[in-house]
Amino acid sequence: MAAINPVVDLAMDGDIAILSVNHPPVNALSQQVRAGLLDGIRRAIGDAAVRAIVLICDGKTFIAGADITEFGKPPVAPSLAEVEDALEGSPRPVIAAIHGTALGGGLEVALCCHYRVAVPSARCGLPEVNLGLLPGAGGTQRLPRIVGVEQALDMVTSGKHVDAKAAHAAGLIDELVAEGDLRGGAIGFARRVVAEGRPLRRVRDLDDKVAAARGKPEIFEAFRKANAKKFRGFLAPEYNIRTIEAAVDKPFDEGLAIERKLFIELMQGTQSAAQRYVFFAERQVWKIPDVPDDTPAIPIRKVGVIGAGTMGGGIAMNFANIGMPVTIVETKQDALDRGLGVVRKNYERSTKSGRLTMAGVEQRMQLLTGTLALEQLADCDLVIEAVFENMDIKREVFGKLDRIVKPGAILATNTSALDINQIATAVQRPDAVIGLHFFSPANVMRLVEVVRAQHTSKPVIATSMQLARKLGKIAALVGVCPGFVGNRILYARSQQASAMLMEGAMPWDIDQAIYDFGLPMGPFAMSDLAGLDIGWSAEKSKSSIREVLCEQNRRGQKTGAGFYDYDEQRNPRPSPVTEKIVKDFAARSGQPQRTISQQEILERCLYAQINEGAKILEEKIAIRPSDIDIVWINGYGWPVYRGGPMFYADTVGLHEVVARLEDYGPRLGKDFAISPLLRQMAADGKRFQDLK
Ligand code: CAA
Repeated sequence: MAAINPVVDLAMDGDIAILSVNHPPVNALSQQVRAGLLDGIRRAIGDAAVRAIVLICDGKTFIAGADITEFGKPPVAPSLAEVEDALEGSPRPVIAAIHGTALGGGLEVALCCHYRVAVPSARCGLPEVNLGLLPGAGGTQRLPRIVGVEQALDMVTSGKHVDAKAAHAAGLIDELVAEGDLRGGAIGFARRVVAEGRPLRRVRDLDDKVAAARGKPEIFEAFRKANAKKFRGFLAPEYNIRTIEAAVDKPFDEGLAIERKLFIELMQGTQSAAQRYVFFAERQVWKIPDVPDDTPAIPIRKVGVIGAGTMGGGIAMNFANIGMPVTIVETKQDALDRGLGVVRKNYERSTKSGRLTMAGVEQRMQLLTGTLALEQLADCDLVIEAVFENMDIKREVFGKLDRIVKPGAILATNTSALDINQIATAVQRPDAVIGLHFFSPANVMRLVEVVRAQHTSKPVIATSMQLARKLGKIAALVGVCPGFVGNRILYARSQQASAMLMEGAMPWDIDQAIYDFGLPMGPFAMSDLAGLDIGWSAEKSKSSIREVLCEQNRRGQKTGAGFYDYDEQRNPRPSPVTEKIVKDFAARSGQPQRTISQQEILERCLYAQINEGAKILEEKIAIRPSDIDIVWINGYGWPVYRGGPMFYADTVGLHEVVARLEDYGPRLGKDFAISPLLRQMAADGKRFQDLK
């Protein structure tokens, strides 16, 4: 075996050259890999004894794409295009041997080989769209020439991975070889190609699949229309579609030039920068400086959930989904029956979309045991309390749990705002207490805030993070404060939204600005969805617009009216009743009215959030700014293409954020204060991304 360089080797197996990449963790196409591949191909071609070349990777995967850490930096030769040209132009057949994932640039390299073989467990995909990009190394021009326009459109705009079997059926993989013997299978395939004198099959020369869509622009229009909601606000899906159109309408090299131009445009834009940032943020969020990866974890085999309401039921579903038995405790039989009934209904709904079979539903339901006896939780490794948000009740529950549940178990609360340190004083083992704040609906939403209380032990933290990952969630470790990270920032926005309501904006004006910015809904539509009567009681005074709405039985979507009026399908309409309530209320308060611009709505809502995020960092409630962004993207639908509130602040410029907050001055409220950290960073010309 000859080392071309530290990450690429060239070896011979008889008359077959084996070019192998060994660049952990994912064999990304960094400069050294590109240089090694180019050199290796040239050497192999230059050796008259070589009859065919197999391109294969060591480690857990085939090439998983370009090296994302190189993006945004000046390019260093050789380019990926040079490597691809060398592969495609090779006078001897080149066979890509795929295991793990052939993604992005990795699949594009494979598409420049003359043949592709894979083990059955391999997957292929062009996930660039998830980084706000398009496949910029010929993938958009070659993929549709093999799999056809419809599948190519689906793959490039969804970023979905296709398993080897489906890829084989689509013609993307020429042959499946035995799992565990990729090298042998690929060499055998190469020998057959040579023996049978098979042609050098260059994907760029294929035309029939793209020709089938030529002169049919309606294919693309229908695709755009069908996906308009999913693509809202994102640039990359539309750019990807345009490249596939080019593959259909233009000669190969012209299509390639269009791909390059659109790729560069995306690469230089803010959306891709944001999405690349989120890619790394999603990986960073699991890393906890003082809780290293080798912290011993507590084995979790049985879980208890207290409360069979919406939250408790949803939480229990997560565990049943991964095959873990769950005991659900309620205080009354009818509440328990109702809760388990809702869980079953939710599962059954999944059978309609084909995500679950009826057998799958039964399997999950069998893992759920309902009981009225807290004592049944004695042998659980983890208990999650999801009862009413009331400190006395929670403390009482924890006191009982302390006496019942076995030593070493984790005692978690799903509180969304209460002081977990105070809850922990109800037990003799405060090190076992942690917050696991699931977001509603808990079986759907990806975010869990893992809340570290004063005495929470490191194994309890490590176990909670690992468990969240097993559940398919994304978890951010946060500290104790009212509302933790997510709801505390939400509250900062709500305060501005409510203030602007009093100053002359209508709920739908504010909601529209937030929706147009890219969130799924604004604060008032969100309140209507959650119910305006949360924490409200008729005895209370009419101290806010929300309370007046509740008085008039406008309690949100569930009563057909709240800030908005709703039709039978729950479509919202601006409400003249609400408008009158708001105006009367403002008049009674003597609040002068004015027209509020969309710019002011956005700046006050968003900059107040950023300011609160800065305070959270000051107080060390979040480990890093990108964790706050992860919370807001996954818990509240902040648009990924804007990277989260803290990344967004960087794109605006912290100096500008502070200057605008100062301009708004007293309008922001008498308790509003600009974060000293934000001020300091703005003065120093820093970005949140500089805080590592
Ligand atoms: N470049 C640089 N680093 C990468 C990388 C890439 N393409 N892909 C993964 N990594 C890094 C991750 O940041 C992570 O680093 P840390 O351990 O330091 O956090 C490490 O590799 C392992 O990654 P994961 O934790 O994600 O590992 P996994 O086993 O769960 O998943 C994977 C592996 C499926 C390959 C996943 O990492 C992934 O989806 N990677 C991105 C693939 C991608 O988007 N490729 C397209 C790149 S763009 C492109 O290719 C443009 C073009 O057209 C030329």
